[in-house]
Amino acid sequence: MPSLLEWSDDLVTGNEYIDSQHRMLLLLARKLELAYEKGVEHRVVVGLCLELKKFTDFHFLSEENVMREVGYPGFEQHAKAHSHLLFELDVWIQKVNRGTEPPTALLRMVASWLMGHMSGDDRRLAEYILVSPTKAVAQGEYGLYLR
Ligand SMILES: [Fe+2]
Repeated sequence: MPSLLEWSDDLVTGNEYIDSQHRMLLLLARKLELAYEKGVEHRVVVGLCLELKKFTDFHFLSEENVMREVGYPGFEQHAKAHSHLLFELDVWIQKVNRGTEPPTALLRMVASWLMGHMSGDDRRLAEYILVSPTKAVAQGEYGLYLR
């Protein structure tokens, strides 16, 4: 089955800090997809769902911090989109945990949300960071740490 979660250069926002976390996010979702395809036991699948949720939570906080650092004018709308996905993720993880939905249903929701968000809201944020007069706190260090 072709993956819903393939990383592609079309998803690059141009901000290394954001892109490196997006790659990890897709890797964790892909890991869940592979685990399901391989028929690993339910508790492992649930563990991977929680890993994906924790990293998503971390990543959203990370992006929101960058938005605060640079004084991003689209903060409210962008952060609202994040809260919405976190809520949806919780609902879907409960369904997977109870066995009422397969992880593939959760992944379809996550994949379509993420692809749209990365190439829309996140790209707009990355473009703003490029022209913003205020730089993100560690912007000059990215090249050294994010390889
Ligand atoms: Fe975002």
